[in-house]
Amino acid sequence: MSRAEISHDASAGFDAVKQSAERIAAFLPPGAAPRIALVLGSGLGSYADALSDAKGIDYGEIGFPRSGVVGHAGRLVYGRAGKTASSPGVEVLLMQGRVHTYEGHSMQTVVLPVRALIMAGCKTVVLTNAAGGVGAGLEAGDLVLLRDHLNLMGDSPLRGHNDDRLGPRFPDMTEVYDAKLRAIAEQVAAKLSIRLKSGVYAGLLGPQYETPSEVRMLRGLGADLVGMSTVPEAIVARHMGAKVLGMSCVSNLAAGMSGQPLSHEEVTETANRVRATFIKLLDGIMAELVSVC
Ligand code: HPA
Repeated sequence: MSRAEISHDASAGFDAVKQSAERIAAFLPPGAAPRIALVLGSGLGSYADALSDAKGIDYGEIGFPRSGVVGHAGRLVYGRAGKTASSPGVEVLLMQGRVHTYEGHSMQTVVLPVRALIMAGCKTVVLTNAAGGVGAGLEAGDLVLLRDHLNLMGDSPLRGHNDDRLGPRFPDMTEVYDAKLRAIAEQVAAKLSIRLKSGVYAGLLGPQYETPSEVRMLRGLGADLVGMSTVPEAIVARHMGAKVLGMSCVSNLAAGMSGQPLSHEEVTETANRVRATFIKLLDGIMAELVSVC
């Protein structure tokens, strides 16, 4: 099969993941063994610029689907995060952008990259996104650590035949977002004087933003944040036994909360505004993860 022809058909799930994992391994510099994967959401891809010894590869070369959404570059970058004069930093594989189910991709396709990164050796997956703020007290620009999620996408990436080589049929979801990793993130934020809140992320299919009534419903269900990504990736990461850390940038208050209509421009503008803080926090977290990942 030529490079361009990797199948994303559900029946080819394991083989497609394995093929991508092998291509990732071939792309890595000799001796590299990154154990942390980072998925950067809308407008947050520039964290790649903060890496040392960085090297990138186009998604097409490793069988990853490409997003047509503005703010999703479509490159996998290997590099060292948190490198200083006294520390070699930590090796990471960083995804600049992701695809979403609302673009018409199957759940299988959406989660292929995260599965491949885990198969390629990453034991920890850090998922970031831009999200609407639903919970009281949240403001645009807030950074929020995910402590749990609500899967309201009407589908699961695990629906269909379960391939036992990936994980169990009925995986436990009691602690999707690792408590130890969350504690580390909170300590780092405190040390850097960055305000980091904590919240529950509701994953919806989109692509339309919610109605004010839907936002009220979400609040009633216990959601603090709403978005269109992250949940499928978190589910497959736990299915494969990887640890997950999730972080949202509140790009806007959810529909009906600010008196303004929502737009994707607002989402990317807010991400741009908090980029420097977000990068500082991520870098600090990466440096601390060296010891636990
Ligand atoms: N709703 C859903 N997804 C989003 C939002 C929102 O308000 N903002 C960014 N992603």
